[in-house]
Amino acid sequence: MAKRIEIKDLDIYYGKFHAVRGVNLTIEPRAVTAFIGSSGCGKSTVLRSINRMHEVIEGAYVDGQVLLDGVDLYGKDVDPVRVRRQVGMVFQRPNPFPTMSIRENVLAGVRLNNARMPRSEQDELVEKSLRGANLWNEVKDRLDRPGSGLSGGQQQRLCIARAIAISPDVILMDEPCSALDPISTLAIEDLIKELKDQYTVVIVTHNMQQAARVSDTTAFFNLKKQGEPGELIEVGPTEKIFHNPDQQATEDYITGRFG
Ligand SMILES: Nc1ncnc2c1ncn2[C@@H]1O[C@H](COP(=O)(O)OP(=O)(O)O)[C@@H](O)[C@H]1O
Ligand SMILES: [Mg+2]
Repeated sequence: MAKRIEIKDLDIYYGKFHAVRGVNLTIEPRAVTAFIGSSGCGKSTVLRSINRMHEVIEGAYVDGQVLLDGVDLYGKDVDPVRVRRQVGMVFQRPNPFPTMSIRENVLAGVRLNNARMPRSEQDELVEKSLRGANLWNEVKDRLDRPGSGLSGGQQQRLCIARAIAISPDVILMDEPCSALDPISTLAIEDLIKELKDQYTVVIVTHNMQQAARVSDTTAFFNLKKQGEPGELIEVGPTEKIFHNPDQQATEDYITGRFG
């Protein structure tokens, strides 16, 4: 079930380094939200804070709140492993497990949680997840072959199928097309638009055309000065951010005068 994310007064650190400052942002369910901004402004860092992946880095921590339908993911009794099942992540480079078959890759996250799922249920879940990732027709006759034998674009859709299989509420994607050719990129973009029917989707992209094509809402991040923490400068409907932003810094970035 898609859920609303509310980020409140979020500061993010890597040890002593203050990477991101003062983020307040609501991310609506059943919509695609794009994070844009120049390299190093903290887009990936904010994204990773939404599923508690940030803190796996030695010395890294956050201050503030990330609420999922009102529940603070950083609350005292919250298990980060559970958070990562609710909030799935797809990375820049497709990362299927190389020694596992396509089928095993889809089930990789599920297996850890529920080792005794009957075979027929597993088969259903594999098909449903691969269909959900628009990959079923391409792989249904070779489910037992290695995932690493697929093309880059297919591997990325396999990773999306793996993320879907655990029934997350949110899917985070960090530049999911940056290692892909244009045709595979369009396939993933089509898929992203379909995923928003069921999930809250957040995508980081350095490609502004991509943000304009796939997202409903765009959040622009920027550094006021080199060495300062990154900040959320402006967020709004994608149309508005691209055509009539409120902030000069957004306008400069969109029109290519900066970054
Ligand atoms: N593992 C890390 N350890 C220390 N600093 C990091 C780490 N990852 C990113 N940073 C720093 O945090 C800032 C934001 O990085 P990042 O979130 O990757 O930006 P973006 O995704 O917008 O390019 C940068 O100054 C970057 O160098
Ligand atoms: Mg990044």
